[in-house]
Amino acid sequence: MAFTRRNFVRAGFFSIPAISILKSCTEKSPPRAAKPVVVSTWDSGLAVNKVAWEIMTKGGKAIDAVEKGANSIEDTINCCVGLGGNPDRDGIVTLDACIMDEKANVGSVAFLSRIKNPTSVARKIMETTPHVMLVGDGAYKFAVENGFVAESGELSESARKEYDKWLEKSEYKPVINIEARQSGKDTNPPSRLSDGSFNHDTMGIVALDSHGDLSGSCTTSGMGFKMHGRVGDSPIIGGGLYVDNEVGGATSSGQGEEVIRICGTHLVVELMRQGNSPENACRLAVERLVKINPEKAKTFQVGFLALSKMGEYGAYSIQPGFSYSVTDASGSGKVFQAASHFKS
Ligand code: GLY
Repeated sequence: MAFTRRNFVRAGFFSIPAISILKSCTEKSPPRAAKPVVVSTWDSGLAVNKVAWEIMTKGGKAIDAVEKGANSIEDTINCCVGLGGNPDRDGIVTLDACIMDEKANVGSVAFLSRIKNPTSVARKIMETTPHVMLVGDGAYKFAVENGFVAESGELSESARKEYDKWLEKSEYKPVINIEARQSGKDTNPPSRLSDGSFNHDTMGIVALDSHGDLSGSCTTSGMGFKMHGRVGDSPIIGGGLYVDNEVGGATSSGQGEEVIRICGTHLVVELMRQGNSPENACRLAVERLVKINPEKAKTFQVGFLALSKMGEYGAYSIQPGFSYSVTDASGSGKVFQAASHFKS
């Protein structure tokens, strides 16, 4: 086809995608990591990344890396992931998690109690059932039938303390940046948990392996002192996690109800597909949330983190204080503070 002006227009060079590509060319180049690379939410993600990166640096697959990385934090005691996390208002810890691979295979588990590694249950659902998501008693039964050990359901010492404190007023008020506060990194931190552990909200992980494939996982015990039966964004594909092997992956942390409202991580990946850098895509998703209700947006935290197929990464949050961890081919991990809509 001759390259005439008419053909140029017909070929769509002035269509909306072309405009967004031009727009992205004016952005300063986003930070880029060499594969294998793994990104995860919060500073607690550094230890998680180490587990994931060690799998990938031996030629392992991103899907194994994001599962084992998630397991490593599910096995620790902290406020917001795994069975050691804060319970719901009935005093029961319930877990949400999901996983997604490079072929858009997905598995998810929600409102699961007494099982240590919800991310592995999600993977088992993905690989062995015709379904995507199991919840509550059905998820528990599936897990036990598949060899997962049923734990006692007793609260960890730190969760028991937090719960007893919460019972004094029984108010449901999600804490902004609970992880940074409890790790002592907030400017006005309440006390750490009794074991002095570094805590976090949701653990979201996206990895790009040396074969060039992307996968992700997302795991949480959800908002502490939530209503019994509440499910957040973390097990929702397109909410807490989305991966498209042609474009990139994204994960989220913070107030799940708000992330679900805009199909947050699916939105971030689609914005990257249109030519936005990971940080800009995260920023545009945050701005969309703020625009829905600017007053309400002052009261909650949401952070998005994204990794592109080319190894570019970036994050953005509503409130300051959202950190994320990046570990790439050099093997050394770094923690970054995300830029935020509100500055203080
Ligand atoms: N982002 C975790 C939750 O809302 O449950």
